[in-house]
Amino acid sequence: MKQDMIVILDLGSTENAALARMVRELGVYSEIHPHDISPQELRELPNVKGVILNGGENRVVDGVPVEVSSELYECGFPVMAIDHPTARCEKRLEVMPDTAALRDFVFDICGAQANWNMKNFIDDQVEQIRAQVGDKKVLLALSGGVDSSVVAALLIRAVGRQLTCVHVNHGLMRKNESESVIEVFQNQLHANLIYVDATDRFLGKLAGVSDPEEKRKIIGGEFIRVFEEEAKKLEGIAFLGQGTIYPDIIESGTKTAKMVKSHHNVGGLPEDLQFELVEPLKQLFKDEVRACGLELGLPASMVYRQPFPGPGLGVRCLGAITRERLEAVRESDAILREEFARAGLDKKIWQYFTVVPDFKSVGVKNNARCFEYMVILRAVNTVDAMSATVPRVDWDVLERIAQRILAEVENVNRVCYDMSPKPPATIEFE
Ligand code: XMP
Repeated sequence: MKQDMIVILDLGSTENAALARMVRELGVYSEIHPHDISPQELRELPNVKGVILNGGENRVVDGVPVEVSSELYECGFPVMAIDHPTARCEKRLEVMPDTAALRDFVFDICGAQANWNMKNFIDDQVEQIRAQVGDKKVLLALSGGVDSSVVAALLIRAVGRQLTCVHVNHGLMRKNESESVIEVFQNQLHANLIYVDATDRFLGKLAGVSDPEEKRKIIGGEFIRVFEEEAKKLEGIAFLGQGTIYPDIIESGTKTAKMVKSHHNVGGLPEDLQFELVEPLKQLFKDEVRACGLELGLPASMVYRQPFPGPGLGVRCLGAITRERLEAVRESDAILREEFARAGLDKKIWQYFTVVPDFKSVGVKNNARCFEYMVILRAVNTVDAMSATVPRVDWDVLERIAQRILAEVENVNRVCYDMSPKPPATIEFE
């Protein structure tokens, strides 16, 4: 590991992640560890230059007041305490530090180097992945989402064709998405890629199923079965790559770093596949994952991809999925994305997509009465997807999208714009 590190000890603050971000924004690597880390564990972490005790408002975990071991002060690292009544530290603050105070501690008191950047991170990870994997083989479920794409690119850099990527097209992908996975990973990065077009199999299982939870279960379960079948055809796989990222770990609880592996199970992978995990992004925040992807040469369209539910367009084709309405969702979504990008809204609006309900309404086409589906346009802005607002989209843009959908998408005679914030609505319709 090349980078210097500032360790943040979690004493129940809700602002650990924000603090780690602030330190990293100074160009210094930072990790959050539980308050009861032993002095030996702390000493064994690579390149520690200083420790921050982050108490925040509630220095309590599980109802028990939190204290750090007094031996931690004897480890020889400078200590900064935030809202933590101890006289034994180099710096003490009542509230979260501003950038100047943090700079003072990180650079002047700890003497850390600002050497946290994606190039160094990638070099480190390549070294670590090679040490972990040796000459064995790694398997990765490559959905084409940001995290799995970046893990794939990093693993390709580290172990090349010892990695096998499996891309399952469940038939619920957006327009051209599977094609771009093949183009980038097979044609450009020369990955060992197994492409499985399981469209018929998924749509067959989903035929006539209208309950959203049931649809999700079928899609998730079938995905695992297809992946498992492919995995069983391969020989000598010892490792499974996973796109676990730092927020997954932080959100898993206060004793973060230790709990991860048992907790994290992306996409519910089969338990009887006994692989050791390779999770090279587990210390990165989402924007760092994107920066890492760009540094590895992935296209911006892949790295800045919007969140996309695992069950894909299946949750946006309401009720029982039919090929007809699925096509209407896919084509209208492509038009919406194209027009938002043309208007520069792709960088201003957090998530946008289309939905096709399973009922028809009356319209007029070619001077005759028609009875067809509607497309609902959905656009939201949010910070954390827990709540969301509806952006005011320029009328001309909306009008153009509606005109194009009505002219280009079959079986559609009506376009609506969803005005509902979350809550009370959710972002997706289901
Ligand atoms: P809701 O509809 O709950 O969506 O307001 C919040 C965010 O989560 C995304 N979403 C999913 N993401 N797997 C995912 O990875 C899923 O099954 C899933 N369902 C919803 C949704 O797109 C929105 O960004």
